[in-house]
Amino acid sequence: MQTGLGGWTQQQFIAALRKGQHAGGGRPIAPPMPWAAVGQLTTDDLRAVWAYLRAQPAVSNAVPALVPPPARP
Ligand code: HEM
Repeated sequence: MQTGLGGWTQQQFIAALRKGQHAGGGRPIAPPMPWAAVGQLTTDDLRAVWAYLRAQPAVSNAVPALVPPPARP
């Protein structure tokens, strides 16, 4: 089974980092992931990060469900 970015497209990866949403349209990506900063990279740079990540050997790692940060008082 593919886990992590294994089933994502490049478009989903870039949209996730630009919008702060899982796969570019799912649940919000929680802190401490600095998507608001990483998402400001140029499209060429994000494509390069994607190409690097996809060039790494795949691992299978089921990520546990999100634990949202506590509400601010
Ligand atoms: C170029 C740098 C980075 C890239 C390309 C990147 C990429 C991503 C992506 C695509 C996700 C979403 C995974 C998903 O929705 O399943 C993610 C999640 C996450 N990242 Fe990053 N990341 C980077 C740097 C960082 C840094 C510097 C930190 C913290 C020090 C960080 C912490 C996290 C955490 C905690 C999550 C999980 C958030 C959640 O489950 O809602 N990342 N990252």
